[in-house]
Amino acid sequence: MTPLSNKHILLGVTGSIACYKSADLASKLRQYGADVDVILTHAATKFVSPLTFQSVTARRAYTDDDLWGDAGHVLHIGLAETADLMVVAPATANTIAKLARGQADNLLTVAALAMRNVVLIAPAMDGGMWAHPATQQNIKTLETWGIKIAGPVSGHLASGQLGVGRMVEPDELLGIIRKELSAGGPLGGIKVVVTAGGTQEPIDPVRVITNRSSGKQGFALAQAALDLGADVVLISAPVSLPTPPGAQRVDVRSSGEMLAAVETAVKDADVLVMAAAVADFRPADVAAQKIKKDAGMPEIQLEAAPDILAAVSKEKGKSNSLRIAVGFAAESQNLIENAQAKLSKKNLDLIVANDISAEDAGFEADRNRVTLLFADGRIDALLLQQKSSVAERVMQEIAHLLGIAQN
Ligand code: C5P
Repeated sequence: MTPLSNKHILLGVTGSIACYKSADLASKLRQYGADVDVILTHAATKFVSPLTFQSVTARRAYTDDDLWGDAGHVLHIGLAETADLMVVAPATANTIAKLARGQADNLLTVAALAMRNVVLIAPAMDGGMWAHPATQQNIKTLETWGIKIAGPVSGHLASGQLGVGRMVEPDELLGIIRKELSAGGPLGGIKVVVTAGGTQEPIDPVRVITNRSSGKQGFALAQAALDLGADVVLISAPVSLPTPPGAQRVDVRSSGEMLAAVETAVKDADVLVMAAAVADFRPADVAAQKIKKDAGMPEIQLEAAPDILAAVSKEKGKSNSLRIAVGFAAESQNLIENAQAKLSKKNLDLIVANDISAEDAGFEADRNRVTLLFADGRIDALLLQQKSSVAERVMQEIAHLLGIAQN
């Protein structure tokens, strides 16, 4: 289940070259469980056919012919009334101008005017058209009415020039839509801090000691918390993953930097989920200059890295506002015994244990096989599943631990 499951999305497509990207957006919305109705303006049909959208949504795509068809007098109202969210992507300067005047001269603008739920607009146009005072004024007007604007972003424009005017990419729009639909979810008003990735402990200005953590599980946890409506701070060691839209991302490198970032973030947080693979050892002294190989084999003295989770969890509800602390235990042997020992030693409410000796799960993989161990002694071994499903389950358990009922 995602916030898009069984939701009804109305996708308005207007006449910009970016409308080829809307087919991808429609397809992704459907993959995440939404029913997608598409309305194309006359100009949009010059770029892309209604059949393209019908093929990816498995529903009729509407054009202005439908405005004058048999059901025309009720169609626009029906589409708008049943929509949980309307997204106009791409939105041309022309359609934006019409919407800002409340004009309703085609099926798309009539439906937009009839919308009572969230309307999201993703402008796409030439840089000069976007910068024009008329467009800027129109955008301000729409914003004062509570209409959400996503983008445009800068990059290569259809004119061949560089500038601001590109439509936000479908993946990012999907994230923004997901966030809009999860507002008012069970974790609404709850601040969740998630850490992710493997820390890098410097040896000298160019070399580091790190580990194989990809950050995938941590990022999935941040997404799952957002999906339940939480305010999310995602503290990440270096990873190559996109930030889940709506999360406040803090980039760090070493365990020392992560400790400082976590301590700041948990001052007023309710939940800490430490999914990061934090170094246990780090070089005791960091060489100021690059260590030269002709100076002989270096001896690197290690010292214990700060145990962030233990330090912060010890202060649960004292110098910070934490109510729930969740840890991860990556083990290659005696999974349950080792995880149980960490659960009590680090004063946790829940520990997610995974056996890293398995080849089909864990580090770098998209799937994970974990066992949940709770402070009250409950143990739940989950089947091999996508990291996103593990994340959803962990967040549901956190909601239970907070005493929040879910529907
Ligand atoms: O003790 P161990 O490293 O196995 O514990 C794993 C858990 O503790 C993880 O949740 C990890 O994020 C956290 N941890 C930490 N600081 C460290 C090492 C691990 O917060 N230096």
